[in-house]
Amino acid sequence: MTLEQFQSRLTTPSAFEGTVCWQAPSNIALVKYWGKHENQIPCNPSVSFTLSECHTKTSIAFKSSPQFSFDFSYDGQAAPSFNKKIQQFFNHISPYCQYLSKLKLQINSVNTFPHSSGIASSASAMAALALCVMEIEKQLEPNVSDTYFFQKASFLARLGSGSACRSIKGPVVVWGSHGSYSDLFGTPLISSLHPIFEDYHDTILLIDRGQKTVSSTAGHQLMNGHPFASKRFAQATKNLDHIISILKTGDLKAFVELVELEALTLHAMMMTSSPAYLLMKPATLEAITKVQAFRQKTNIPVCFTLDAGANVHVLYPNENATLVHQFIQTELASLCDQGCYIHDKLGKGAKKY
Ligand code: PMV
Repeated sequence: MTLEQFQSRLTTPSAFEGTVCWQAPSNIALVKYWGKHENQIPCNPSVSFTLSECHTKTSIAFKSSPQFSFDFSYDGQAAPSFNKKIQQFFNHISPYCQYLSKLKLQINSVNTFPHSSGIASSASAMAALALCVMEIEKQLEPNVSDTYFFQKASFLARLGSGSACRSIKGPVVVWGSHGSYSDLFGTPLISSLHPIFEDYHDTILLIDRGQKTVSSTAGHQLMNGHPFASKRFAQATKNLDHIISILKTGDLKAFVELVELEALTLHAMMMTSSPAYLLMKPATLEAITKVQAFRQKTNIPVCFTLDAGANVHVLYPNENATLVHQFIQTELASLCDQGCYIHDKLGKGAKKY
């Protein structure tokens, strides 16, 4: 697929209206995307687990109108603080969705996970919005193939927030030019997934629900001219090849090592940016130390990963879930903001509802 193939010249008939609804999941990267070129092109390829419980549900009621406009509400309440980000999204996608220029949209979204919990809600939110836009496009062009529908949804979601392009399909998605993978959209892992990963768990420890001190957008920018950038981008590409083979063979020892290395490298990039900054909190480090000690003591292949924030994702196989849940309840819950954590699992991707 090329940029041109995603350009739609469809126009809207004068009486065109309806409602579309999609839900899209959050995702957690195993090999991290950190640093981008113009137009949300990543500096290195990344791969993520798609989640099944944490998602955004979005509906759009659309109607023909002389010009484009939208209203946004969150869980039925007007939420003007999101307008700027949504307007930017529509500005970025308008060359590819000309039919929007003659529509008025009433958008309503709700997350199934706590709002402002530090869980990457922009990925699921942008993915759900992009899928709704594609559903409108499909009403104008019903013969569109499923492949095109989902690739373009991922392409549009990427223009809203890079990692959102990995929130359309599941259970494992690669984004970034490498072999047959693309910079333009996320692609489900092409090789087979070892059965141990099919029902893998991710418990998200909500360590800090406050606003991040440095946004992801600012963080990506600090990779421009970062002294370790080129080595990091090369390392991520190598790690992607390595993890693709681990995901096939089910080598959990190698999985644990690589996933934790990636998480700490992401934060090492932040700590060595100029200006340098820290998003981990004391409780983040405490949780990491406890996860590693529990692994050492029990030989259970539990590991952690991090997003661009203080929260900790605890990853483990289904066969160890009972013991790991007990460990989380007794040793990690007290480190969480108001004792809050979310048990999630690998998921299959977005759904119409
Ligand atoms: O999608 P953005 O621009 O919010 O960047 C997110 C980057 C990380 O979550 C830190 C890593 C990743 O690959 O998801």
